[in-house]
Amino acid sequence: MAVPVAIATGQPVIGVDSSPAMLEQARRKATEANVELDLREGDMRDLAVDEPAALIYCPGRGLLHLPTWADRRCTFERVAASLRPGGRFAWNAFAFDHHIAARLDGERQDEPVPHTNRYAVGDNRIDITLNDGAKISLWWATKNEWLGLIEVAGLELEELYGGFAREPFDDDSREYVVVARRP
Ligand SMILES: C[S@@+](CC[C@H](N)C(=O)[O-])C[C@H]1O[C@@H](n2cnc3c(N)ncnc32)[C@H](O)[C@@H]1O
Repeated sequence: MAVPVAIATGQPVIGVDSSPAMLEQARRKATEANVELDLREGDMRDLAVDEPAALIYCPGRGLLHLPTWADRRCTFERVAASLRPGGRFAWNAFAFDHHIAARLDGERQDEPVPHTNRYAVGDNRIDITLNDGAKISLWWATKNEWLGLIEVAGLELEELYGGFAREPFDDDSREYVVVARRP
C-alpha cells in the first residue's frame, strides 16, 4: 500500500513491516512504479519515526496480527507519539461475523491463496494454514476495543466507516475503516 499512497499524495512514505519478504515485494513494486520509498524492517510495537508524521496508516487488517490488548495498546501509544498534532491514524479490520465463521471453519479456500481457516472463538483468533503448510494467526477485535485503544492512546475518533466507500458504520457492517486523530 505504500506505493499507491506515495503516488496519490506525492509525499515521502516510510513503509514498515516485520517481514523481509514483504519489504522485498514493496521494493520491487516501487521500482516498477518509479516511486521512492523508505522501507524499514521493524515491529509496529516499536514504531519510531524521525519526524512526527501527518498520517500513519495500517492497511490490510495488519493490526489483527497483534495477539493481545497489551500489543495493541503499545502500538497505539507508539503511533500517537509518532504523529504531529492534528495528524491521523487510519486502519481497517474486519468485524467478526459468526455466520461467516461457521461457513469457513475448516473449509479449504482458494482465494487469495489456497488456505484453510480454523476459528478459536475463546481467543478471538483465526488460524490460517496455507496449503504449503505455512501458518499465520489473526486476532479479531470489537468496535469497543478499537474505541478503547483510541482513548487510552490519547487520540480522538474522527471517522468510523463501514467500508472503503465511506459507507456509514452500522449493525450490518463487516469492516471497520477507522480514522483517528491526535488532538
Ligand atoms: C496484510 S499485510 C499488509 C502488507 C503491506 N504492509 C501493505 O501495506 O501492503 C500485513 C503485514 O503485517 C506484517 N506484520 C505482522 N506483524 C507485524 C508487526 N508486529 N510489526 C510489523 N509488521 C507486522 C506482516 O508481515 C504483513 O506483511
